[in-house]
Amino acid sequence: MSKPEGVSISVIKRLPRYYRFLGELKEQGMIRISSKDLSAKMGFTASQIRQDLNCFGGFGQQGYGYNIESLYEEIGRILGVDKTRNAILIGAGNLGRAVALHMSFEKRGFNIIGIFDKNAALSGQMIRGLPIRHTDGLYDFCKENTPVVAVLCIPSAAAKDLTPELVKLGIKGYWNFSHYDIASDFPDVAVENVHLSDSLMTLSYKISNF
Ligand code: NAI
Repeated sequence: MSKPEGVSISVIKRLPRYYRFLGELKEQGMIRISSKDLSAKMGFTASQIRQDLNCFGGFGQQGYGYNIESLYEEIGRILGVDKTRNAILIGAGNLGRAVALHMSFEKRGFNIIGIFDKNAALSGQMIRGLPIRHTDGLYDFCKENTPVVAVLCIPSAAAKDLTPELVKLGIKGYWNFSHYDIASDFPDVAVENVHLSDSLMTLSYKISNF
């Protein structure tokens, strides 16, 4: 079951939550779940869940509910986390180190193969078993190892300078923590922006309207 044309991004954005939650149920040894129980646990309505999963052809059976294992695997396939894509991380400062150390990239279909920073004083320091490399070596490394994803943990101006080179080197996906708007300059690459401050402002809104 692959992503048909026209599935809204809001449905796609809910899939990681289904995936994570079903993974927890699987670990608890549960075999199946009804859309009603799934909705009670996840906070979506049962009809929302049926609509979401029907976008991909439907997984449930009337009167049986959803088979957790197969739904988990199908959602994993739709998200593409059943594949492994080589990635590099750029910027080994406070944020880059935290991201490198605390994210389970492998579980989400990514393999960090190189960490780069322009600060030569950091070169050779180890993070998650990888040496920090100087950005001077980025070109040769990418030519040799062909990563397809970059995690950008550098300031906005640095990201703006570096991205054209990364695009030329074949980087097609950007997990972008910098505040540079990659997508407006490079509409043909995949970008996922992460702004913790957006989440904090959403909390501010929620608490203001509590
Ligand atoms: P930091 O100053 O600790 O680390 C930045 C690292 O990037 C330094 O090691 C520096 O040498 C390196 N760097 C700078 N230009 C580079 C280049 N062209 N190539 C390779 N490495 C380069 O800063 P921190 O706290 O790690 O934050 C990094 C950036 O991430 C900041 O600009 C900040 O605005 C942004 N940020 C974004 C967040 C988000 O939610 N999206 C949250 C926190 C920070």
